Amino acid sequence: MHKDITKKFQRARKLFPHTNDIIYLNSASYGPFSTPLVNAINGNMKIRMEADKDDSHDAFKLRIDLRKRYAKLIGAKQSDVGVSMNTTQGLNIAAFGLPLKKNDEILISDIEFPAMVYTFKAAAQERGLKIKFLKSRNRCFDIEAVEKAITKRTKVLAVSFVQFFNGYKNDLRVLSEICQKHDLYFVVDGIQGMGVEPINVKKLKIDVFSTGCQKWMLSPQGCGFFYLSEKIRPQLQISFMSWMGVDWNMQFGNLFQYDKPYFETAEKFELGYYAVLNLYGMAASLDIFESLTIKNIQTHNYELIDSLAEYLTTSDKYRITSSQDKKHRSSIITFTTDNIADLKLFLDEKKIMVSLREGSIRVSIHLYNNRSDIAKLIQALKQFAVNYKD
Ligand SMILES: Cc1ncc(COP(=O)(O)O)c(C=O)c1O
Repeated sequence: MHKDITKKFQRARKLFPHTNDIIYLNSASYGPFSTPLVNAINGNMKIRMEADKDDSHDAFKLRIDLRKRYAKLIGAKQSDVGVSMNTTQGLNIAAFGLPLKKNDEILISDIEFPAMVYTFKAAAQERGLKIKFLKSRNRCFDIEAVEKAITKRTKVLAVSFVQFFNGYKNDLRVLSEICQKHDLYFVVDGIQGMGVEPINVKKLKIDVFSTGCQKWMLSPQGCGFFYLSEKIRPQLQISFMSWMGVDWNMQFGNLFQYDKPYFETAEKFELGYYAVLNLYGMAASLDIFESLTIKNIQTHNYELIDSLAEYLTTSDKYRITSSQDKKHRSSIITFTTDNIADLKLFLDEKKIMVSLREGSIRVSIHLYNNRSDIAKLIQALKQFAVNYKD
């Protein structure tokens, strides 16, 4: 990476106080807060505590601004994007809103995060739809299984951008082609890739893309976004609506005029007032992503993962369990060993934060990590390997 960009990453690391004390490799669970984020939230809390000014208009403007900025990050238009509370909210719009008929089929992987499964399961029950689980291969999404599973009744393919437990990045381009060929709605849970993997939802012809921002987007729990394609929006049959789903133009003096049109933009599907404090924090996080760019963050993270992978492949104590295929890699790397639960405790004691998922240690690398973090992790792994020789 160019020297100037490396310097930017060094400066960005300084915005995260946790880097002084711990080695945080766990963004796939939740993202740590930066000082600008905490300051932004505190600033808004102060305004509300002092209560001497109505900041409603600032809050509404903030939401408009965030839609625009998020849209830019995913290659969409501002009108395609709505503010949500989490990933599940956008998935619900898809599950309950897509124009589906009784006995229509939805394809979901058998190793999908439960957010997708339970949302579509409830919709299937209510709407008489059928979920078909796609058999994974070696705990990875199997593209061949998709084509095989498609029948005349298949109408939706619902997948994660990146699999939560092993970091397997799905080939959205190929999946998109399959959706186009068979006329399927394409629904993507983006949370495990958003912020670290560049994406262009329009080029990929995704219909619904939904992300909470509490993980890789380094924002508070309770904020997220959904993208709804221009094509799909008029077709959505939603059984919930809010007073802010109409074109009211922030006119607090004209609230009894009940014939305002619903928005044609994704804003129509937002749900009433929103978590303003969270969004102030989110705006501060977006500054960091915009300044570094997602492409550079990806390159930065991959370089660090490569240095860890190099050690893991040469060690006879550890075995990498995530995909090494360039097309399917992400900012998550997983590996296993015999006494995995002990290793997790050992790393906890050393203040190296990782997760234990499905029998593997899951290491999530992000913009605030550096070579020294990885060297310390490797040092700890070497120590563990010596201490736990069987
Ligand atoms: C792939 C995936 N989807 C969704 C979620 C969470 O969903 P939500 O943002 O609705 O809580 C997680 C993790 O918490 C996840 O890993």
